[in-house]
Amino acid sequence: MNLKIYENYESLSHGAANQIIEVVRQKPCAVLCLAAGDTPRLAYTLMVNMAKTEGIDFANCTFIGLDEWLGISPVNEGSCHHFLRRHIFEPLSISNDKIHLFDALTEDPQGECRKMDKTIIENKGIDLMLVGIGMNGHIGFNEPAGSFQAYSHVVELDETSRTVGQKYFREQTTLTSGITLGLGHMLEARQVILVANGSKKADIIRRTIEEDVTPLLPASLIRNHVDAYVILDKEAGSLLTPR
Ligand code: GLP
Repeated sequence: MNLKIYENYESLSHGAANQIIEVVRQKPCAVLCLAAGDTPRLAYTLMVNMAKTEGIDFANCTFIGLDEWLGISPVNEGSCHHFLRRHIFEPLSISNDKIHLFDALTEDPQGECRKMDKTIIENKGIDLMLVGIGMNGHIGFNEPAGSFQAYSHVVELDETSRTVGQKYFREQTTLTSGITLGLGHMLEARQVILVANGSKKADIIRRTIEEDVTPLLPASLIRNHVDAYVILDKEAGSLLTPR
């Protein structure tokens, strides 16, 4: 696992954007799984700007959704769907046939999971997965005590995710379950980047990097990945033991 600690959120975001661009430069038909959330937002803005100024074409990339709040409409501003459209797909003019996101309004969530797993296999796996980390150490919606081997599945959200998740919504919203790629997908992705910023993430980052690799802390599994990067700002890395 490679650890990079940047001076601040802006430089971290530049670093993450550069790394995504590099993957697409080397493989214009890359399969990308890019998390929604506050952490990568600036990285995506910078990525879109670089794509335009440097002529990097994302049109042949395939986009796989990481996770979604089950039961929340894609037009709801708090949905991952809405976030990805606004910050990535619309500015890069990605065509719908290249976008595979979980349908959070489906009446058959298990079928939706099987469909996503099949899509990933048909596209020959994920080249780059960029993830954030939840305050409880979750990746996507792989909550503590889930399975390291899981593929797409439906999850009962834990109390932390339900509470913290309110920050994405304008109004108080009932969040009970999620649909997510599994940690098996993360392990099988060719490259994984985990981004975290701010002092509020410092303790969970310390535990992720310095404590045991355990399903109780899903993000810790990134340490078993052969090509993984943990990209932090100084604040998120502030509780790590100096090397
Ligand atoms: C959310 C999502 C994750 C996201 C993580 C961190 O609840 N399920 O996909 O990466 O938690 O979010 P943020 O970047 O807003 O801190």
